[in-house]
Amino acid sequence: MIPKIELHLHIEGAAPPAFIRGLAAEKHIDISGIFNERGHYAYRDFWDFLRVYEAATSVLQTPEDFARLTRAVLEESAANGVIYTEAFLSPDFCGGRDLSAWRDYLAAIQEAAAEVEAQGGPILRGIITPIRHFGPEKARETALCAAETAGDFIVGFGMGGDEKAGEPKDFQYSFDMAREAGLRLTCHAGEWGGPDSVRRAWRDLRVERIGHGVRAIEDPALVDDLAEAGVVLEVCPGSNVALGLYKDWRAHPIGRLYERGVKVTVSTDDPPFFHTTLTREYDRLAEALDWDDAVFHTLNRTAAEAAFCDGATRAALIKRLEGQP
Ligand code: ADE
Ligand code: ZN
Repeated sequence: MIPKIELHLHIEGAAPPAFIRGLAAEKHIDISGIFNERGHYAYRDFWDFLRVYEAATSVLQTPEDFARLTRAVLEESAANGVIYTEAFLSPDFCGGRDLSAWRDYLAAIQEAAAEVEAQGGPILRGIITPIRHFGPEKARETALCAAETAGDFIVGFGMGGDEKAGEPKDFQYSFDMAREAGLRLTCHAGEWGGPDSVRRAWRDLRVERIGHGVRAIEDPALVDDLAEAGVVLEVCPGSNVALGLYKDWRAHPIGRLYERGVKVTVSTDDPPFFHTTLTREYDRLAEALDWDDAVFHTLNRTAAEAAFCDGATRAALIKRLEGQP
């Protein structure tokens, strides 16, 4: 199995339906409406997906719930050969952006991750995520949580949520605060917004990676600019296909972006929502684009170089990608 690096995974979005149902039953919360008859998450489109996502997340109510989730998510990552994961962590869902509550949630997540790592499992690092459709005010509170807990574990700041809500510049203050605290920056763009949305996120928030970014393909000049600047795209093809952005894997632009010299990486986003795993992403890409192990090795090398972790961790990851212990 190829060792894999994943840079774009939402921790709540990685919760299997059975895990969420189990917590809902323990807490006597009725969220049956978000599942279909086969027990999978059921949503009609991206915006409905966000609603279902937030409903599922509502059963995660304590630091211990997030510790359990962290263990479950990393177990699944390990089963897919993942050696390093950057997960989006949201103070919105961990104590409503209260700094002291956030510290408790973070401590629980970090402790669970340290246990997994000590047992030879994947290394986890956190990217704090404001949620765009919750607005700039809440993003500032989130940025404060990020700035106060930045360090070896919390290494980045990156906005998710509805790309159609507001403008990147509305969030400049939050991104500046995160940058000044030493955090590395990414932002979802070019998923539901077009190339202009990518340009605005890149220019106004001064991010070094873009979450998705795939709709850059619609503007050849932007593709050239991203390639030249070495901006890394956290591409999640299965997510894009499942949410209906592209009709199938062959129509997905990741292959064209790669050929045009853009630094692309592959991640799962919210795997159980999209019936995917990182292994499945690689298998589908191999089928659709004829990609072989050498290409996947290049993608993982790009991901290691673009990871927000410290230099010693990066060097260790690169050694493992090269097949050294
Ligand atoms: N949050 C979780 N998944 C997301 C996605 N694909 N786009 C934006 N925000 C998200
Ligand atoms: Zn995402």
